[in-house]
This record gives sequence, structure tokens and C-alpha cells, in this order.
Amino acid sequence: MKIQRIRALEILDSRGNPTLQAEVLLTDGTRASAQVPSGASTGRHEAVELRDSDSHRHEGKGVLRAAGNIEAILAPPLLGLDATNQALIDRYLIETDASEGKSRLGANAILAISCAVARAAAKSLHLPLWKYLTGNRTPSLPVPMVNIISGGLHAGRNIEFQDFLVIPRGYNDLSSALEAIVRVHRATGKLLAARGCTLTGVADEGGWGPHLRSNEEAAAILREATAVTNTTMDIALDVAATHFFHDGQYALEGQHLSANDMAELLGNWVRKYGITSIEDPLAEDDWQGWKTITDRLGSSVRLVGDDLFVTNLTRLNRGIHEGIATAVLVKMNQIGTLTETFAVIDRAREAGYSAVISARSGETEDSLLADLAVASGAGQIKIGSITRSERLAKYNRLLEIEKWEFTPD
Ligand code: PGA
Ligand code: ZN
Repeated sequence: MKIQRIRALEILDSRGNPTLQAEVLLTDGTRASAQVPSGASTGRHEAVELRDSDSHRHEGKGVLRAAGNIEAILAPPLLGLDATNQALIDRYLIETDASEGKSRLGANAILAISCAVARAAAKSLHLPLWKYLTGNRTPSLPVPMVNIISGGLHAGRNIEFQDFLVIPRGYNDLSSALEAIVRVHRATGKLLAARGCTLTGVADEGGWGPHLRSNEEAAAILREATAVTNTTMDIALDVAATHFFHDGQYALEGQHLSANDMAELLGNWVRKYGITSIEDPLAEDDWQGWKTITDRLGSSVRLVGDDLFVTNLTRLNRGIHEGIATAVLVKMNQIGTLTETFAVIDRAREAGYSAVISARSGETEDSLLADLAVASGAGQIKIGSITRSERLAKYNRLLEIEKWEFTPD
């Protein structure tokens, strides 16, 4: 089954911004598509999402140039290649682009092809996508880390911290974990309303985006919600500190904090609220601060690098060598191909770091993320909240895999 045709379509993501869909047709008649996500609180070192910058359409965010690059430049060298040779296809894509950060043709264009080829190959072989992607890894069903309250750039900067999440503990299967999480989400809504917060809708990832008096109030409400629902949940944070780091300091609630102050504050919360995971507690280039916080908190809480590592092997290797962070957040579109994504996950495992497979705040109905999480055996997935169908597409795919496809060897 060789690649016969690749075409591209500009579609809309969950924020109504343009993004890409690529479709691959194989010589055996198999057709499959993939859609790429898009972040808002992006790291400076991410691969480049190519946009048109034509202010007459979608405020410059159109992706017609990237779609054109797929059909005119990236596809031709792939025609006739065996679709199951993912490593070769991804190498061709990288070489055709040949720029730093995939800025010439666009990481969005490259990722759309990389994923669509994998899906077409799996379909042609009549294999579930996760099974096809597994290779010689040990697949596993991931535990979700679920957004309940949003802040930062995902909720109009109501509070500084970006995500307050729950991680279910001790549930037999995903469906009972999700049932408990839905109860926590609803209970949180009621608690917020009881405090007089106006709830007119949900934030970018489907969590509540209320105005609160402080960041800590969100952690306290979340803890209360797990108590009133009688659920067993750990709490996780995505501080996304890059986005309130200015002139060497963290601008939090009118104060200017150092990395040490942040470590002190978060260390207290870990004990007080039962927090087991903190993502981006410090900014993307504050390596020294990250070293301090890892030394202070790394043995009591998982420290996840998102903007810090940007799913980039070179940056992850620096972290591993310097003893910085204890986990990596994995977002395919931060790097641009499936092969490079797996390289980061595999390297993390080898070094004793955990990996959290993550969606973006701008998403589509594509569910490949669920298959990636299972195939990689990473153990944890972060999709956003349990409302909005761009999120549910992934949870529902996981339910399907769990009930119908996954039989551990
Ligand atoms: P983003 O947010 O997709 O807007 O970057 C997700 C995150 O920071 O984890
Ligand atoms: Zn993050």
C-alpha cells in the first residue's frame, strides 16, 4: 500500500480558528484523514505553526499557505512510498522543509501528513490505530488528568494559574473514573455559583473560568468538590508560569516573586491540597529556577515541563542531564511529526521521566491523541475537561479502546 495522493483542507478548530486537515489515499483504495490542534499559551521554542498573515481572512490566521505547501511541496516526494514506513516518511517531511523549527513549510502542515499517513496505514492493515503505533513498546490505558477550573490565557486571565485539574485514583476502569470526574465538575460549578461567581459558560478547554479572589481559592474549591462528591482525586496544576514571568520575576496577584518564592508557595500547596503534579511551575527559559524547584520539590511532587521542553528532544536531554523536572508534557504539534513525538516519549521513559500525552487548548474532533497515549504506554493523558466534543472525541475513543480493543498480553 503505497501513497497515491495527499490533499489538504482548511478547517476550523474549537475556537473557530483555521487549522489543517490532510487526507491520504493509498493505492489499495484506503483513505484516511488527520486534523491538527493549535495552542494559545504556546512556548517560545515550539515548532512553527504557519499562518497566512492575510488580515482580510480570519484575522491573519488562515492556513491556506500551509495547505498549499502540503499539496505542492510536501506531498510529491512521498508519492509511491510505502505508507507503513513512518520513520522514512517523517524524515522526508523534515528534509523537504529543511528549516529550523519547521518554519518554512509549517509544523502544522507536516504534522497533518504525518498523522494521516499513520491512520491510513493502520486502516489498510485493519489494525486499531493504537495497535499499529505500538511497535515494540508495551501499550497501556492512560489515567486522565482532567481540567476542572481554568485560568490564565484560557479564561481571559481571570487568575494567573492556567489549569486546576483532578487525577482520579483507585477506579477500576475509565468509565467509572469519568463518572466521578463529571460529578466533581458539576459540584465545582455549584460551589462556584454558591460563592456568587457568574458562570456563563466554560473556558477554552471546557473547564469553568470563574472570577476568583485568588489562585488558591481555585485549589480550595476543587478540594471541596472532591470532598462533597466523595470521590478519590489527586489535584494537579498547570501553572503555565511563562505567561506571567516578566523581567526575571513572577507577577502573581500584585506581587513579584522569585523562583524560590514560587517553590515555597507551591510546596505549601502540595501539602495542603494533596497536589501530586505541577506543570510549568516556572518559566520556559528559567533553567536555574527550574533546577532549584526540582531540588526542593522534585521528590514530593511530579514536575512536568511543557513550555520548558516543548516536546523537543534536545531540550528534554538538557533537562535530564541537569536534573531538571521529572516529567515531560507531550504535544505532537510542538514538534511536528509522530516519529519525533515517540522519540521524546521513549527517551523520557529510558531516563526515568514520566510522560503526559496532551491535547492543545484549540482542538478538533480528531481522536488520534487517545491512540497515541495507549500505544506509547505513557500512562497519563491530559485532554482538557469533560465538556465540549473536541475533548469528548478523545475520552470516548479511550472508552472504545478500553472496552472493545484492548486486551493486555
Ligand atoms: P495550550 O495550553 O494548548 O494553549 O498551549 C495547554 C497547556 O499549556 O498545557
Ligand atoms: Zn501547559
